Amino acid sequence: MPLETAATLPAEEVDTILSRAAEIAAEYLRGHGDRSAVVNPCATPKQIREQITLMPGREGRSIEAVLDDVTRVLELSPRTGHAGWCNQLFGGYDLTGVVGEWMAAILNSTMATYEAAPVATIIEHAMIEKMCALAGFEPGEGIFTPGGSISNLMAVLAARLAADSDSNRTGLAGAKPMAMFTSTESHYSILRGAMIAGLGTDAARRVDIDHEGRMVPEALEAAIGEAIREGYRPIFVCATAGTTVYGAYDPIEPIADIAQRHGMWLHVDGAYGGSTLLSPTHRHLLSGIERADSLTWCPHKMMGLPLACSALLVRRDGWLAQCNTSGAEYLFHDQPNACYDMGEMSLQCGRRMDALKLWLTWQHFGDDGFAARIDQLFDLAQRFAAMVRERPGFRLVRDVSSCNVLFHCVPWSLRDAQPSPEQLDLATRTIRERVMASGRVMINYAPVEGVAAFRMVLVNPRATDDDLRLYLDEIETAAAGL
Ligand SMILES: Cc1ncc(COP(=O)(O)O)c(C=O)c1O
Repeated sequence: MPLETAATLPAEEVDTILSRAAEIAAEYLRGHGDRSAVVNPCATPKQIREQITLMPGREGRSIEAVLDDVTRVLELSPRTGHAGWCNQLFGGYDLTGVVGEWMAAILNSTMATYEAAPVATIIEHAMIEKMCALAGFEPGEGIFTPGGSISNLMAVLAARLAADSDSNRTGLAGAKPMAMFTSTESHYSILRGAMIAGLGTDAARRVDIDHEGRMVPEALEAAIGEAIREGYRPIFVCATAGTTVYGAYDPIEPIADIAQRHGMWLHVDGAYGGSTLLSPTHRHLLSGIERADSLTWCPHKMMGLPLACSALLVRRDGWLAQCNTSGAEYLFHDQPNACYDMGEMSLQCGRRMDALKLWLTWQHFGDDGFAARIDQLFDLAQRFAAMVRERPGFRLVRDVSSCNVLFHCVPWSLRDAQPSPEQLDLATRTIRERVMASGRVMINYAPVEGVAAFRMVLVNPRATDDDLRLYLDEIETAAAGL
């Protein structure tokens, strides 16, 4: 193949290629609405290797051949936009988000400087302003990151600098060890933050939760006391708004009181549940958020934006640049509009235009559309929980806090007896394996107090009651003979 790029191709070929790509995309996306289609084609590594051309050869291939591979990649992959995808905290994205992704790819620039991405920079500032206002962060600032894990890491780094203003220069060697606190149900990225920030995982104390998965403030106070007695300096506490497994919201107000008393940075990991701020009905779950020092918020979860779309917000002005500036005169010049540059607020140099897809989708939905979406998800979860309660052999493991439903399906052979935790654990894993093999529903499981339970995540507002019943039917069928 000759070395052609879109820029050198004749206009009609650009049209042909992009139209064909759009056709493939449209056909694929339409399939999300087809309830008879499998969610997961369950492709084996062997099938994948056989059906797509993996290794680029010495000679290039025609664009038609390459686009055929696009079709096959789509066919062999799980459909995360299908209602049967209930496996993770994301799913069911909207087309405006897809168009925003295209815009970012077509513009193909970095968010480091205003100079390179003037429009996207102003848009990112606007999105940050909007999100800060919803959180009550005034003053507030923020930055889009590659995901919730990186947003959380940046929060730990921000707290470290707040605790020791020399730490970026001197490192932590010789300093009094710093401790951080997070619940036993918090996301693993918080612990990873402790590793990367140099605090170490020994310094990351896991605080007990109550029955519904929320951090217990008294246990936090006790853990802080213990760390102080061991010679640590408490610097950071993370409250989770929407825990990964339970979907629970830690009580921010009492945690903020404790953080304030000990002079600690309060971070709220709202990667999942930060979007609840959009719902006048449910935003009380984050009551006290305006007292937090930082907030992770991922619109790629409950708001349905395509991955990745995540922001770290900070209730300060200028702090992120103070945390992350390391000097790059070749890039950051003293010039007009340099005050809009975001590169020194970030861990990255090249950075994607993830704010574009959020902006486009928010324009389309408006605040009310997003509020309706969040309310719909919470309602779906309640309706699903009601179905679980009513169906013989099914048991709700916890009351529903948001969009996650934790439940067991008791095998037929054990329905007249009281199954042991071990039996329920094994049954959940076995049933889930069978359900996954059917390809019609993708559902996950997670340990709840050491016993595996189904974790149904309802983040696709297009799921209907019929879909919900179908999921339960699938599970029931898979339990047959156990
Ligand atoms: C509570 C919580 N925080 C952080 C993350 C990490 O987000 P990401 O997957 O965008 O890195 C997750 C992921 O599920 C999460 O559930």
